[in-house]
Amino acid sequence: MFDVIESTRPTITHASGRNSPPMMEVRGLNLWYGDKHALIDVDFDLYSNEALAFIGPSGCGKSTALKCLNRMHDDTRDVTIEGSLVLEGEDIRHPDVDPPLLRRRFGWVAQKPNPFPSSIYNNVAYGARLHGLMRDRAELEDHVEACLKRAHLWDEVKDDLHRKAGTDLSGGQQQRLCIARALSTQPDVLLMDEPTGSIDPIATAKVEDLVMELKETKSIVIITHSMMQARRVADRVAYFHLGRLLEIGPTAAMFAGAETREARSFIEGQFG
Ligand SMILES: Nc1ncnc2c1ncn2[C@@H]1O[C@H](COP(=O)(O)OP(=O)(O)OP(=O)(O)O)[C@@H](O)[C@H]1O
Ligand SMILES: [Mg+2]
Repeated sequence: MFDVIESTRPTITHASGRNSPPMMEVRGLNLWYGDKHALIDVDFDLYSNEALAFIGPSGCGKSTALKCLNRMHDDTRDVTIEGSLVLEGEDIRHPDVDPPLLRRRFGWVAQKPNPFPSSIYNNVAYGARLHGLMRDRAELEDHVEACLKRAHLWDEVKDDLHRKAGTDLSGGQQQRLCIARALSTQPDVLLMDEPTGSIDPIATAKVEDLVMELKETKSIVIITHSMMQARRVADRVAYFHLGRLLEIGPTAAMFAGAETREARSFIEGQFG
């Protein structure tokens, strides 16, 4: 359906030691909001079965970069994007790409839990219904159950899936519901923008456990302001600074001693 771009780059060794081609390759990514140059020559790869953390000071472009991966900027006025974003050999910005079909491959989890003003069931069923992924009602019901189980929410909600998602669940439950909803379209990649930024420590631990589990079968990009969280869940860390991706590397190496002074002082400052 889309153009296949021949990759001339060598296969890079994955953080975990496996040799595999990247699932997604981002090269020369630049983005302007009007005149403001918000992303400057950003390059990185994303592998299957890894969690990649975006870290860096506020306003350095982390969310902007994340939104490029599933073309979330498409509907924002006055945004200009240049560069190549290649998902399994296919240029996601090619005019033939159907954005809804592309977005199906990405789940999105925002900082503030944002369930639809509907039932728990409808929140999770929505994505699968929209894309016609299930053959009938029984299959959809099984799918909703499976997504809620994967998000570790099933046991807490199974007695009444028709409760209102927004008002009848705690913040942490709502965030796990949003993860279940994100899983509904059977995505390959989960994009999480500070997913624990507005929930309590116990709820945070549950979401981190989920990230650890889900990366066994998916790629995850997670933005976090918590260096401890990056250390706990990420295989690799990308440090953003004033719109540039300044340094990327395996989590242990980045925390043991990043190469750039900026990344080092940011990481150390976060502990100090
Ligand atoms: N819709 C927009 N229009 C104009 N400028 C924007 C828009 N969104 C973000 N920016 C600007 O782009 C830069 C990068 O913002 P971005 O939200 O990507 O940063 P961030 O690293 O995610 O920050 P934070 O850690 O605070 O969430 C900032 O200077 C921000 O003010
Ligand atoms: Mg942000």
